[in-house]
Amino acid sequence: MTPPATGADLRRGPFRPGDRVQLTDPKGRLHTITLEPGKNFHTHRGHVRHDDLIGAPDGTVVAHSSGVEYLALRPLLSDYVLSMPRGAQVVYPKDAGQIVTYADIFPGATVVEAGVGSGALSLSLLRAVGDEGRLLSFERRADFAEIAQANAHAFFGQEHPAWTVTVGDLVQELPRAVEPGTVDRVVLDMLAPWECLDVVADALVPGGVLICYVATTTQLSRVAETARRAGGWTEPQAWESLVRGWHLEGLAVRPEHRMHGHTGFLITLRRLAPGVDAHLRKKRPAPGAYGEDYTPVVEEEWSPEDLGERPVSDKRLRRTAREARATADRRDGGLPDEGGAS
Ligand SMILES: C[S@@+](CC[C@H](N)C(=O)[O-])C[C@H]1O[C@@H](n2cnc3c(N)ncnc32)[C@H](O)[C@@H]1O
Repeated sequence: MTPPATGADLRRGPFRPGDRVQLTDPKGRLHTITLEPGKNFHTHRGHVRHDDLIGAPDGTVVAHSSGVEYLALRPLLSDYVLSMPRGAQVVYPKDAGQIVTYADIFPGATVVEAGVGSGALSLSLLRAVGDEGRLLSFERRADFAEIAQANAHAFFGQEHPAWTVTVGDLVQELPRAVEPGTVDRVVLDMLAPWECLDVVADALVPGGVLICYVATTTQLSRVAETARRAGGWTEPQAWESLVRGWHLEGLAVRPEHRMHGHTGFLITLRRLAPGVDAHLRKKRPAPGAYGEDYTPVVEEEWSPEDLGERPVSDKRLRRTAREARATADRRDGGLPDEGGAS
C-alpha cells in the first residue's frame, strides 16, 4: 500500500535518513538539517554526528563534539514554513490557520490558489484538502513555482497527489483549467486580487468561498468595492489578527516584548447562485468614501447611517419622547419616579 502523501508515516517514529530535523542549542538558536548517514552538522566549535540522530526517537537530546547538548525535533508545519527557502514573502502560520478555517477548506475539496510564491500556504491547503482533494495552484513566476514545489516535496517526502501547479497568470489560466461552477474554494494571495474576480466568479460553485490575503487597507477596499460593483457576491467580511506571544518564567508571566505587529488582512466573500444579487447592504456608503471604481446610484446628503449610526424607528422615537415627557412632568409636579418615591 502506498503511504499517505500527507506524510503520516514521515512524521512519526525514529529519525530516518532524509528526515529534516530542527536542532535547538542552549541559547534557543535553531538549525535545520537533513539527515544523511556519515554526515556531520558543523558549527565553529565542532560538530553533531547525523549518525547519532538516525534511529533515535523524535525529541532526543544529542551531544555536540564540544559537549554542548542540542535538542532534536521534527519541525512542525509551522516551523517548516518559517525555515524553508523563500522566493516570495510567505503567509505566516497564524494567517494560514485562519485561511483554512474561514475559507472552510475541507477534505476532498477542489481549491484554487494564486499566487504560489514560496508555497507556504499551499502546504496548509494541501493538508486540509487531503490526498483525495484537489489543489490547483497558479503562479506567474516559474522560478517561484519551482521553489514552492521543491519545498512541498521536501515536506511531504514525495509529490502530493492532490497538487497541480500551473505557471501563468490566473486570469488567463483559470478558465482553461476548470469548468465553470466547479471550484469549491479560491484563495488569493497576490498584489491585485480584484483583477481576478471575474474569472474566480465563473469558476466558483454557488455558495463557494473566496478568501483574499492582502497587505494593505487600500487593497482590502479595492477587493470589497470591485466585488460589490460586480454583484453576485455576499457582503465582504474583513479582519486582521494580531498574535502576541507570552513569556512564561516563574512569576514573570507577561506578553513578549516583541511581536509581529502586522502581517496582512483577510477578506472573505461567498458566491451567489447565478442570477441572484443579494440586497444585503442595509447601510448606504458615506459620500466621498468611494473612488473611481464606484458609481453612486443617487447623490444624497449625509445621513446618520452614513456616519455609521444605527437608524432609530419612528415608533421608538415616539416612545422615547413619551418617556422624556413623563420624566419632565414628574420633576415639574413633584410626582414620584416610577418604581418608588424619590
Ligand atoms: C506573496 S506571494 C504568495 C506567497 C504564498 N502565498 C506563500 O505563502 O508562500 C504572491 C505571489 O503571487 C504571484 N502572482 C501575482 N499575481 C498573480 C496572478 N495574477 N496570477 C498568478 N500569480 C500571481 C506573484 O508572482 C507572487 O509569487
